[in-house]
Amino acid sequence: MLTLHVMTDDVKQDDFCLAPLRGVTVRTFRNLHAKWFTPPDRAVAPFIPTFAGERIRPALLKDVDPDFGQSVPVVPQVLGKDPAQLRTLLRAFKAMGYMCADLNAGCPFPLVVKKGRGAGLLRDAEALERMLEAGCGEMPAGFSLKVRLGVDSPNLLMRRMDLINAFPLREVTVHARTARQMYEGAVSLDAFAEALAACRHAVVYNGDIRTAQDWRRLKQRLPEVTRWMIGRGAVVDLFLFGKLADGRAAEPLPERVKGFLDDYLAACNGELYGPAAVLGRMKELWSYLHQSLRQGERLWQAVRVCRTLSEYSAVTAIFFKKFAGFISEDDIGDNKRA
Ligand SMILES: Cc1cc2nc3c(=O)[nH]c(=O)nc-3n(C[C@H](O)[C@H](O)[C@H](O)COP(=O)(O)O)c2cc1C
Repeated sequence: MLTLHVMTDDVKQDDFCLAPLRGVTVRTFRNLHAKWFTPPDRAVAPFIPTFAGERIRPALLKDVDPDFGQSVPVVPQVLGKDPAQLRTLLRAFKAMGYMCADLNAGCPFPLVVKKGRGAGLLRDAEALERMLEAGCGEMPAGFSLKVRLGVDSPNLLMRRMDLINAFPLREVTVHARTARQMYEGAVSLDAFAEALAACRHAVVYNGDIRTAQDWRRLKQRLPEVTRWMIGRGAVVDLFLFGKLADGRAAEPLPERVKGFLDDYLAACNGELYGPAAVLGRMKELWSYLHQSLRQGERLWQAVRVCRTLSEYSAVTAIFFKKFAGFISEDDIGDNKRA
């Protein structure tokens, strides 16, 4: 398997990045997605938390370890607020060959934010500054930031922009919501556009791109943006990156989805501890994937109550045997608004 773990800044027109979704867009997902579908141009891996001490458990780094194969160029991401701990992780990334890493300043979970991590970093200018200093010091020209518009209101990012502009960041990804919104409610394109205009770094748009139509609309509204990060939409519609990149689209065939799922189940069986963990991983995936399939809602109701892997395999086998088709782009859009 091709190993690519050094990100270049040679970003061409319209660059598509797979978002970090903890427990979903993990290495095995990224690799098997690239085998069965058009892959994204790159990915940011789900966050790795900082920890006290110098000794790093290898399991912590496994998701981004090039020795396990990384079919999609990937940037590791860190969640934390302690600059010394950040440096420890960044040195471990560098030892694996990485020259880039991303800092999570967007995680919205109240327990994380309260501890000053994730979006909580936006609240504490001094802590953010120390983290950016450590990150840019350790990875000159390779450090990037992923942020929200704010914690409670969408103007906090703007208040931090001078600070953010003072560092030589590789890019800044903006999820166009506040932390309080979690993952729901409307994205604010006005607040995003304001941040875009004020930011001196390359800015990546993130939030609710679910279809090629969504992306085209955003492209019209934000013509300066060429970097796009997509999370849930790419798991709902595994063919999405192909639809976005002209000429790279693989025909949406159920055989591909089934082949991917079979491979994923087998890989999870080999990697995770026990059938409950494997079933949990498959259910998490289906919570998104069902939204792009006709009669997917009914299937999802059946999958979510499966108690064993054999129940799961039986339910999904019947579904693919009577496969009813993919739902149209418009309908995925409608689901979003529902
Ligand atoms: C289940 C889940 C896990 C996530 N894990 C991470 C993470 O590890 N790091 C991060 O920066 N963002 C994380 N996010 C946020 C996404 O990267 C992304 O910013 C958000 O889902 C909006 O983009 P989308 O509408 O394209 O999904 C997570 C989101 C979800 C739903």
